[in-house]
Amino acid sequence: MLKLFYILICYFITHSHGLDNGLALTPPMGWLSWERYRCTIDCKNYPTECISEDLFKRAADLMVSEGFLDAGYEYVIIDDCWLANERDENGRLQPDPERFPSGIKALADYVHKKGLKFGIYEDYGTKTCAGYPGILGHLEIDAKTFADWEVDYVKIDGCNANISTFAEGYTAFGKYLNETGRPIVYQCQWSTYEEINGIHSDYAAISKTCNLWRNYGDIQDSWDSLLDVLDFFGKHQDRFIPYAGPGHWNDPDMIIIGNYGLTYDQSRAQMALWTILSAPLLLSTDLTSIRPAHKEILLNKDIIAINKDPLAIQGRRVYKEKKIEVWTRPISPIIDGYYSYAICILNRNRNEMPTKVNFTLSDLGLNATNYNLQDLFDPDKDPINPVSVIQISVNPSGVKFYKAYPFEINKLL
Ligand SMILES: *[C@@H]1O[C@H](CO)[C@@H](O)[C@H](O)[C@H]1NC(C)=O
Ligand SMILES: *[C@@H]1O[C@H](CO)[C@@H](O)[C@H](O)[C@H]1NC(C)=O
Ligand SMILES: *[C@@H]1O[C@H](CO)[C@@H](O)[C@H](O)[C@H]1NC(C)=O
Ligand SMILES: *[C@@H]1O[C@H](CO)[C@@H](O)[C@H](O)[C@H]1NC(C)=O
Repeated sequence: MLKLFYILICYFITHSHGLDNGLALTPPMGWLSWERYRCTIDCKNYPTECISEDLFKRAADLMVSEGFLDAGYEYVIIDDCWLANERDENGRLQPDPERFPSGIKALADYVHKKGLKFGIYEDYGTKTCAGYPGILGHLEIDAKTFADWEVDYVKIDGCNANISTFAEGYTAFGKYLNETGRPIVYQCQWSTYEEINGIHSDYAAISKTCNLWRNYGDIQDSWDSLLDVLDFFGKHQDRFIPYAGPGHWNDPDMIIIGNYGLTYDQSRAQMALWTILSAPLLLSTDLTSIRPAHKEILLNKDIIAINKDPLAIQGRRVYKEKKIEVWTRPISPIIDGYYSYAICILNRNRNEMPTKVNFTLSDLGLNATNYNLQDLFDPDKDPINPVSVIQISVNPSGVKFYKAYPFEINKLL
């Protein structure tokens, strides 16, 4: 009972007041090159996979034609390895001339004409992680360059830099971005480098400077990597959750659905769990060859609506025992004083039969008498009945994902 009380209290920690640039009022959604395409610069041998203007134009085309933009995925973001090895004669950043022959402004124009927004990567150090020129010593001119190119989103990494200068440095760059007058979403990796070195980041400061920030190391294309990220978010949830809200988000890193590392069930799990975490949904996959089943997961309207829920409360792990976890997120509508919830039941057993689980909703912190349950992955299959218990089977390394909304029996009588 005490534990339950504690869980309820945690939901009531009010949202901190964060960066006030009017952007990222819901978690940003889009496409980011890194996890799928890395630093592929060999366009001769990898013509369709190398970091080049063609790659981003193709991604932009498909985001529109395949319905991703309509579903809310609006940013097309370049990660590392777009730069030339040297700045130009005026000290400005410039792209690799072979791979981006039309220049970044032309690429931004192309993306904008499609109705999408355009993002780019840099690094607060002497060099980016892959060794291209960093912004250190050039903060003002680089912020101006991005604004001149009509960039809508910047991701600033933290390689080749002194961690103890981050608070000052990331804040200074944020100030220069603001002074350009152009609304630019600011993604920071400041906390990544602190947390992976065992330092508890100052999220009060970070959320006043950045629209979103990575809290942990990079996700790789595997279920193990995904669980590693998830465990970190579960372990540190009381530190992270209070700082999520409109304009400022914790970021567990890219969506890897559509690549090689996740099964179908594991793909559903990432979509569900990232939604519980109110995470940015940044796809990093090849949209030319994505399978329909994976596409369907990514375009699930009910789930995306929960990710964008106006209450903007990041969810939490409320149960973890014998490889079963339950994660819940309070969402709208609030009915007669009771929250609705997204409930994700995760089965971490592998190579086994589906596992039967049995929970009363009040054990999970849901205090109305009954709830209607909508299965978010199979809206037509499961009957939506007023229930107070969940008795279900969960696939190995898979999830069940429900929307539960309060249902008062009395209302029927
Ligand atoms: C149910 O719990 C929520 C906290 O999760 C609380 O705000 C609300 O007042 C409770 N509702 C009732 C009717 O007890
Ligand atoms: C890192 O920055 C701090 C604070 O400015 C400074 O005291 C320290 O000497 C720097 N460390 C290195 C290795 O440059
Ligand atoms: C700059 O900061 C001010 C104060 O927080 C804010 O009102 C304004 O919208 C910001 N402008 C841009 C372009 O980010
Ligand atoms: C689930 O729990 C209820 C209440 O404790 C119990 O009556 C029921 O038998 C359980 N069902 C399963 C499948 O374990």
